[in-house]
Amino acid sequence: MNLLTIDKLTAGYGKLTILHDLSLKVEKGQYLGILGPNGSGKSTLVKSIFGLTDIFSGSIKISGQELVGVATENICKRGLAYVPQRQNIFATMTVRDNLLLAVRHLRRPKAHRALQDAYALFPILAERQQQSAGLMSGGERQMLAIALAWLGKPQIMLLDEPSAGLSPLFVIEIFKLLRRLCESGITLVVVEQNARSLLRWCDYAYVLREGKLAFEGSSSQILADEETVKSYLGVGGTAFSQRIAE
Ligand SMILES: Nc1ncnc2c1ncn2[C@@H]1O[C@H](COP(=O)(O)OP(=O)(O)OP(=O)(O)O)[C@@H](O)[C@H]1O
Ligand SMILES: [Mg+2]
Repeated sequence: MNLLTIDKLTAGYGKLTILHDLSLKVEKGQYLGILGPNGSGKSTLVKSIFGLTDIFSGSIKISGQELVGVATENICKRGLAYVPQRQNIFATMTVRDNLLLAVRHLRRPKAHRALQDAYALFPILAERQQQSAGLMSGGERQMLAIALAWLGKPQIMLLDEPSAGLSPLFVIEIFKLLRRLCESGITLVVVEQNARSLLRWCDYAYVLREGKLAFEGSSSQILADEETVKSYLGVGGTAFSQRIAE
């Protein structure tokens, strides 16, 4: 069953069109990757789902319900959570206060339980509760950002480059954690430049190039067919092709 369906989406910023006639679908329970070189429109795609771009035509539906034209806060209420590429935590607040903010709509006992659940899933956050979030390492911050989204009990989580700038060990930690979230029933859409790492963990991926869909397939299909991916990405895809060949 398709949870999220994007059909012929054309979107951008002001008069600028970035995404051209893009169609994709996300099945319930799937771990989906969005790959492509710098500037290919990966973040624009995720932002479009959350109503943060200008949509010129096409549709974006969750469980058959249209999201185009719906305000971002109401999109979140429909079970979508977004972990942006940058500025995804409140750096001047403690870790605990960040988490409390994510459960502010709950009564005290429920909020307390939700925090305990988050600490069980993200033990590092329990250790760092009283620490200012801005003083944590990149990987710890990313854990916090994912926990903040997770506390909203989303059906589907969209993450924009969760492994960017992290040490190789933390990259693995993040991907393992995401796999666990997926196994717990959350559908994942993960944007990555680090194609090879993501393809080891996700089920299926779409490759963007210049705002258009260049290629799609299961992770094993894509990994086994690097030449095809390279030719689809062409010259503009050098960085991506190199990464996939690493
Ligand atoms: N707010 C904006 N206003 C105008 N143009 C923008 C804006 N944000 C992004 N763009 C442009 O849209 C294009 C696609 O950018 P986008 O951030 O979606 O790419 P990306 O695939 O996420 O790249 P990266 O891998 O570097 O994160 C780029 O040409 C970029 O300059
Ligand atoms: Mg981006």
